[in-house]
Order: sequence, then structure tokens, then C-alpha cells
Amino acid sequence: MTANVTWKSRWTFILAATGSAVGLGNIWKFPYITGEYGGGAFVLIYLACILLIGIPVMIAEIMVGRAGRSDPVDSMSSLGQAAGKTANWGAVGAIGILAGLMIMMFYSVVAGWALDYVAQSLSGSYHQAPVEQIEKSFSELLSSPYEQLFWHSIFCLITASIVAGGVTNGIGKSVDILMPVLFGFLLLLLGYSWFNGDFSAGLHFMFDTDFSKLTSEAVLVAMGHAFFTLSLGMGAIMAYGAYFPGKASIGKTVLTIAALDTVIALVAGMAMFPLVFANDLTPGQGPGLMFVTLPIAFSNMGGGQFFGTIFFALVSIAALSSSISLIEPGVAWLEKRDVKRVFSTFGLTGIAWLGGVACIFYGEVFNALDYITANIMLPLGGLMIALFVGRALSKNTVEEEVGMGTGMLFKCWWFVLRYLAPIGIILIFLNSLKLI
Ligand code: PHE
Repeated sequence: MTANVTWKSRWTFILAATGSAVGLGNIWKFPYITGEYGGGAFVLIYLACILLIGIPVMIAEIMVGRAGRSDPVDSMSSLGQAAGKTANWGAVGAIGILAGLMIMMFYSVVAGWALDYVAQSLSGSYHQAPVEQIEKSFSELLSSPYEQLFWHSIFCLITASIVAGGVTNGIGKSVDILMPVLFGFLLLLLGYSWFNGDFSAGLHFMFDTDFSKLTSEAVLVAMGHAFFTLSLGMGAIMAYGAYFPGKASIGKTVLTIAALDTVIALVAGMAMFPLVFANDLTPGQGPGLMFVTLPIAFSNMGGGQFFGTIFFALVSIAALSSSISLIEPGVAWLEKRDVKRVFSTFGLTGIAWLGGVACIFYGEVFNALDYITANIMLPLGGLMIALFVGRALSKNTVEEEVGMGTGMLFKCWWFVLRYLAPIGIILIFLNSLKLI
């Protein structure tokens, strides 16, 4: 794949970028961190971060990718140089590649859990089981390293095989069909929760904003998750942007992606919390939330074994369309250095696989990788991208490259990118360090 290949249309780009954005972040992570950080106020801060930081940074990332038409390192260094600034801006891309690998280390483990639940659903292991047994079966998985290792390895292998073939070749099409089906399933689960869960308790939990529960750490996690869920701050969207067709409008594209991503996360949360309250589970039970609440729904539903199998398969596929974008920036970078795609793909995925093994055997590694990437590396990467586009590049270049005209829309974005987003990120960092 070379940089003059582009996606067939703006729509294929939207699908690929949505495929990257929608994944475990929406269905697994968002509900469980919302549960841990107390609900409503956390959700509100997360939504504000998507709107005021995520969307503007995403426009900037796609613009850099499209203008540079290369991997994140080269795009940033060549645009930096062309603007008469330093080529060292490429370092932002390099740190992003590292962040992608670090995310892949724990992401592939969780995707492995989803695969394990495909098998569990298929075999009917939790069918019509009592809630305690469903809870136990997740803790049993956590205490079976070899079972996790097996599925984690399978997931890494599938990711590598797809990336080795080139990302513009196949994911567009599969995402096209599977994402709407996944969304349909989430709506089905939402319907189940409505009839069988404590829906009003779920609504109150997710949307009542009690700011007294909001800690500075919660604000940092909400911002970090806005980056994580939109695949921002590490070059994934930038790498995809390199194949963005001609002059298609970036602004509208980004709004579509962000809206789809947010709606899916909110629906996933609303499918789970009513079940949490109706079954006396704790919202803050951690990473097992999805793997306990949803099997409860499937175990009681007519045809639940079938629906459960398909659902976890779809979640695994959603994870796959995200994991390929975690590896792609590094592969694109090595490809420019004449490393064969197959070697770089299997090499990088191999490193991530090893990190995943560490995550499986040492829970602290899992938590540390999750925390450092989502809450520190991605927001820092996003800050650097906002500063790069908003301050290092000239306004004329940006105006031309971003293709949003020169009217109100551009002016608003330009202002938010130059002031609001960077200041917001810095304040949240300072606040979480207890410096303000
Ligand atoms: N956005 C993906 C998800 O929500 C995860 C991801 C993060 C993918 C960063 C690429 C880059 O599951």
C-alpha cells in the first residue's frame, strides 16, 4: 500500500475510522469506568471532552494525515519542515506508535475474553444459570492464564493477518455490514433491559449529575477516555487520514464518526446499568461489568444462546477493526523504511503479544498500561497535535488543507483548537496532579 492509494470514497473512510473508534472502548470500557467513577457527572465530563477536545483534535489529525499523505511520523515532520519549523514534530508520531503498541497489549487480552465468551455462549455454559454462577465464571476466566493466553494469541494472529494484507483492502467492507448489526444487537439488549431491568435506576445513575462525587482523577479518566474511544492522540486516525480521498469535507466526516461512537457507548451503558441494579450487582465492579451483565440478559432470553454467541462475535469483530488501527501506524512507518509489510506486522504484533502475556500474568501491568496510555499518552499526543496544527503550521496552510471554507465553522474550530482544547487538556493535567 502506498500513500497515493486512497479510500474509495469519503464514506469508506468514515467506515474505517468508525471501525477504529468503535470497539471495546465503547462496549467494555465506557460502561465499566462510568460505573467506577460514579455515573452522571462523569458521563457529562466525558461528553464535554468529546465535543470540545476530541472533535477538534480529530479534525486536526485527519488534516495532518491528508496533507502529509504518509505515516504519522513522516507526515508531521514533513509538514513541520515545510512550515519552516523543526522536523522533530515527527517525534509526536513516534510516541503515538509506541502508545498504539502499548494499548494493543491489554486490548488484545480483553478481546480474547470476548472470544472466550463466544465459545462460552455457544456451549451454553451460562445458559439459564443463576447470577452468582455467571459472576463466578468471569472470575474463573481471570484466574485461568492459559485460557486467556489461548484467545489472546488467536486475536493477535487474526489482527496481524489482516494488517499484513493492507488496511484499505478489506476492513471497509466488513465494517459496513457488521457495525449496523452490532448496533441492532445493542438495541435488542437495551430493549431487554427496559423490560427486565431497573431502567429508571439505570437512567438516574447514568444521567443524574452529582458533582460532589466527581474527583479530579475522574475528570482525567473522562478526558482520557474521550481520546481512547475516538482513537485519538496516537496517530491511528492520522494514518487513516493519509488515505482520505481528495477534497472531501473533514468537518462533517468527523461529526458523523463522533456521533456514532458516542451513541454506541451510551446505548451500551444503558443496556447494562438497569441489569446491574435489578440484580443487586455493583456498578463499580470493574472490568468484568460487561462480561457479567450481558450474559445475565442472554441467559434468560429466548434464543439467548444464539444471540449471545453472535453478540460476542460482533464485539470481537469491533475490537478487531480497532486493533488493526493500533498496529497500522507503526507498520506504515516501517513500510516507508522498506521493511516488508509482513515482517513489520508480525514483528510489531509479536511485541504487543508479549506485552499481553505480561498483562495476563500480572494484573498490575494490565492496569498500568491502560492508565498510562489512555490518561497520559493519548491526551499528551492530542495536546501536541493541537499545538502543531494550531500554532506551528500557518493559518493559510491549515485553511487550505482542512477544506472547511473560511466562514464561521472554520473560525470556531480554529479558536477551539488554538485555545480551548489545549488549555482544557493542560488544566485537567494540572488538576489531577493537584497543582491547581
Ligand atoms: N477507539 C478504540 C475503542 O474504543 C480503541 C483505540 C484507541 C483504537 C486508540 C485505536 C487507537 O475500542
